[in-house]
Amino acid sequence: MTDLRSAGVFALGDRVVNRVGYGAMQLAGPGVFGPPRDPKGALAVLREAVARGVNHIDTSDFYGPHVTNQLIREALHPYPDDLTIVTKVGAVRGPDASWNPAQSPAELAQAVRDNLRNLGVDVLDVVNLRVTGDVHAPSEGSIAARFAALAEIRDMGLIRHLGLSNVTAAQVDEARTIAPVVCVQNHYNLAHRGDDALIDDLADKAIAYVPFFPLGGFSPLQSSVLSSVAAQLGATPMQTALAWLLHRAPNVLVIAGTSSLAHLRENLGAAGLRLPSEMLATLNRVGRSE
Ligand SMILES: NC(=O)c1ccc[n+]([C@@H]2O[C@H](COP(=O)([O-])OP(=O)(O)OC[C@H]3O[C@@H](n4cnc5c(N)ncnc54)[C@H](OP(=O)(O)O)[C@@H]3O)[C@@H](O)[C@H]2O)c1
Repeated sequence: MTDLRSAGVFALGDRVVNRVGYGAMQLAGPGVFGPPRDPKGALAVLREAVARGVNHIDTSDFYGPHVTNQLIREALHPYPDDLTIVTKVGAVRGPDASWNPAQSPAELAQAVRDNLRNLGVDVLDVVNLRVTGDVHAPSEGSIAARFAALAEIRDMGLIRHLGLSNVTAAQVDEARTIAPVVCVQNHYNLAHRGDDALIDDLADKAIAYVPFFPLGGFSPLQSSVLSSVAAQLGATPMQTALAWLLHRAPNVLVIAGTSSLAHLRENLGAAGLRLPSEMLATLNRVGRSE
């Protein structure tokens, strides 16, 4: 079994996490809506993740809605002291499974209360403001009022640390004039590299970069180059894609999502993979060539 600490750790404020974590979104039902097809299997995935050393779980109360948080609570509460749960606010689900922005101060406060209740905690470790932008890509515009509203809730003692999701570099800079930002969660993977400059900039500022869709999201990455490098390594393509992220920069944390125990074990195995420089160079060309 891979020791997750072999991939290193990173500090989210005063919470130190292994760089290999777990994203809980895939545990909800189809379309991230409603209960899981296999509730016992979902609980088993969460318990196995923590048993194998995961101490960083990414979630949101709008997954389900409420479903992934309730599963996390059922599987893991009372939580181990070293477990950091990162949640996000800024949207609500419609009865038709739609994703709708909910970013007024009152809606953000309600989302924090929902997360506290469903996770069964008095204080949330880290809350990301999920900016709606262009769904999976950010768009420019001030986020000051929204972030200030969340910072006020933090000042009330209900949140330890704040992060951002789906944001531009200018929005990160703007938010940091209001309150400290410990992590940024944007769409990024081997084949989708629009945030290369942002990652390096955040590394200089000791801010974590946590890619969403690290394996390509709902349609996992497919690349002949990736498959060929993986075969040379004796690893799977998904492990290799995660190992590439871990090599990309020291502030990158991975939160691959899965509802499958076998995929979970496979993904955590990426922590032990070392990519020689020539393989890294080959993989670096994927985002440009495919
Ligand atoms: N901030 C945001 O806006 C935002 C957006 C999306 C996601 N997120 C967060 O980021 C996390 C990761 O993103 P994600 O789960 O959407 O995408 P992902 O990690 O890129 O990929 C998940 C998909 O890959 C499959 N998969 C996982 N491991 C695999 C393996 N070893 N082999 C083959 N297929 C595999 C999963 O299916 P199986 O279940 O069958 O394994 C699922 O279909 C989420 O869980 C969520 O916490 C945040």
